[in-house]
Amino acid sequence: MTIIPAQAASLVVPALEAAVRAPSPHNTQPWRFELAEDRIEVLLDPERVLAVADADGREARLACGAAVLNIQLALRAAGQACAVRLLPDRARPAHLATVWLQGPCQVTPEDRAFARAVSFRRSNRRPFTDRPVPVWIRDALVRAASLEGAALVLVERGRDLDELARLLRRAEHLQNEDPAFQAELRRWTAAGGRRDDGVPLAAGGPRPAAAGLLTPRHHPEGPAGREPLVAVLCSFADTPLAQLRTGQAMQRVLLTGTTAGVSASFLSQPVEVPATREPLRGLLGGQAHPQAVLRFGYGFAAPATPRRRPEAVTRSRRQQPEEANR
Ligand SMILES: Cc1cc2nc3c(=O)[nH]c(=O)nc-3n(C[C@H](O)[C@H](O)[C@H](O)COP(=O)(O)O)c2cc1C
Repeated sequence: MTIIPAQAASLVVPALEAAVRAPSPHNTQPWRFELAEDRIEVLLDPERVLAVADADGREARLACGAAVLNIQLALRAAGQACAVRLLPDRARPAHLATVWLQGPCQVTPEDRAFARAVSFRRSNRRPFTDRPVPVWIRDALVRAASLEGAALVLVERGRDLDELARLLRRAEHLQNEDPAFQAELRRWTAAGGRRDDGVPLAAGGPRPAAAGLLTPRHHPEGPAGREPLVAVLCSFADTPLAQLRTGQAMQRVLLTGTTAGVSASFLSQPVEVPATREPLRGLLGGQAHPQAVLRFGYGFAAPATPRRRPEAVTRSRRQQPEEANR
């Protein structure tokens, strides 16, 4: 049962509603939340880490990082300052973050715009139009990643994009050949019905007219449009801490796109497959660690994917004996 302290409920409920709107691989929603009077704790749910595509939980940590940013944005938009500590407890590695409520703060128009964008951001796997993403939005996307301590590397047309497309095709081929990967994908691709997780078929986009180079998953034969902007989100280390920070960066990048009217979707195959991840890293100069490949552009609105309700994934924090004795 969830017990939300009465004074904090008006802040915490919208913050949790925002948290669960974070993107996650195959919409697994690999998070849980614990509440105390002055804080929200974000935990990894190991049962929801993809055993084949994400064996070490890297993508699940990206998703939880995104949920942490959503909590911060919702609190700020409600006039509540907050402080975040990532991986606060070495003895409890599943405890990914604590967001501390810190009292009233001024709300800026940007806080409001970002918090609003959380509920209408979608992964858009549909083909994009030929309209290019303008330079000022490209710059804003790059800035959004660096604000959260990550790097967004834009892969411009030409040899690099061709090489990225080749790695994508290779990774996709290897995943298609892997029965365990395919079984996992099928498990999380819902044919409709009343599921509150997984990717509904409707989120895969319309049937394609022609095969394309950069093909989004969940859109098995589809093109991703003719001139998408493709970028690789990178971290400067490949530790759980760096992955959480990069998850925050990923969400800030996606929301920056959303507020500017730009759609985005993921092309994670070359990062997930070990045989293509290292060459992808080489393509980017060998320094940073690729965490997610994203494409950006303009397209028809994509449908929302379902979520488990916050109360299904939240409980009150039980006081640990050693805390009670402090
Ligand atoms: C780390 C990560 C990797 C993802 N990889 C892919 C991918 O390779 N292909 C894809 O179509 N969607 C991918 N997604 C998008 C999820 O499927 C999507 O976030 C989820 O279904 C929820 O839908 P929403 O983003 O519209 O809220 C990824 C999401 C995350 C966070």
